[in-house]
Amino acid sequence: MEDKIHKYIDDINNIIISNNEEAADFYKKYLSKKGLVNQLFQDFKNLTIEKKKECGPVLNKLKKTAIEKANIFKNKKSISTEEDAIDFTLPSGYSSPGSAHPLSKVQSRIINIFERVGFNLSSGPEIEDDWHNFSALNMPKHHPARDMQDTFFISIDPDTLLRTHTSSVQIRYMETAPPPIRIISPGRVYRKEDISARAHCLFHQIEGLYIDKGVAFSDLKTMVIYFLKSLFGDSVQTRFRPSFFPFTEPSAEVDIYWGLKTEADYRITKGTGWLEIMGCGMIDPNVLKNVNIDHKEYSGFAFGLGIERIAMLLYQVDDLRLFFENDIRFLKQFQGAK
Ligand code: PHE
Repeated sequence: MEDKIHKYIDDINNIIISNNEEAADFYKKYLSKKGLVNQLFQDFKNLTIEKKKECGPVLNKLKKTAIEKANIFKNKKSISTEEDAIDFTLPSGYSSPGSAHPLSKVQSRIINIFERVGFNLSSGPEIEDDWHNFSALNMPKHHPARDMQDTFFISIDPDTLLRTHTSSVQIRYMETAPPPIRIISPGRVYRKEDISARAHCLFHQIEGLYIDKGVAFSDLKTMVIYFLKSLFGDSVQTRFRPSFFPFTEPSAEVDIYWGLKTEADYRITKGTGWLEIMGCGMIDPNVLKNVNIDHKEYSGFAFGLGIERIAMLLYQVDDLRLFFENDIRFLKQFQGAK
């Protein structure tokens, strides 16, 4: 009898129950009143005491194995039936939707404004060489103007650096495409600056370039005013201040009137009410020469601005570092922002 029970245990272990019908058959064969297990318990009664001692534990094991097998299917059945697994009446889980980073939002707004008047996007590498970032832009080696942009050099190679502005993209573009050219180049730039509420070693710029026959300073002015009105509203007041950049001549910086209504206004405008927004100017003929564009036939303008600065103004954020910390409590506030 003991051998017979062992054989049944093996049989049960090898059985795979995969549907209701098989489960019913299994139950009938092993566990019903007239099933094998009960039958063996009947037979067990007639055994001698010694035999009972031998067979008892094995018989109990058989019963346990058969019940477990039947239950496995029961459990499986409850997970695999969809109605049991999903309760449609439960409230749905809370999920918090993401949204674009405030810097991306401002960048898209600026790109949109320039795309409306025919500027194309262009991009270039963040790891640049000296030529595209400096020399071609009329800043030869040892030119003091290089000090305006403290630079991260890469390892021991003085020719490889992290670009300090996206003007490098304009050089690359002019080297490959003949005028007329109308591009904007957004992207990350790097400067070796101490990190503070107003400066970071990494920030984002958008620079623009327009080259064609007969482009004049008045075209630059029209374009800049169109841009600032689109971004800050029609009533924005602007002023052009003479300035210096090695790659433009003449050069200017553009301010907008921010006002002096609050204490913060005094702080961010240093008490003047005016805020510097961007640099611009007419492309220096030396730059055109460097990229083999005939400076007697063509002229053009360029401008550049920092996206963080514009985002700080539009969203009234007074610490630049917040844009880089990815604190969800900060970022969440911009979900609905334009
Ligand atoms: N490249 C300049 C900077 O990063 C900005 C600029 C661009 C100024 C084009 C004038 C013309 O500071």
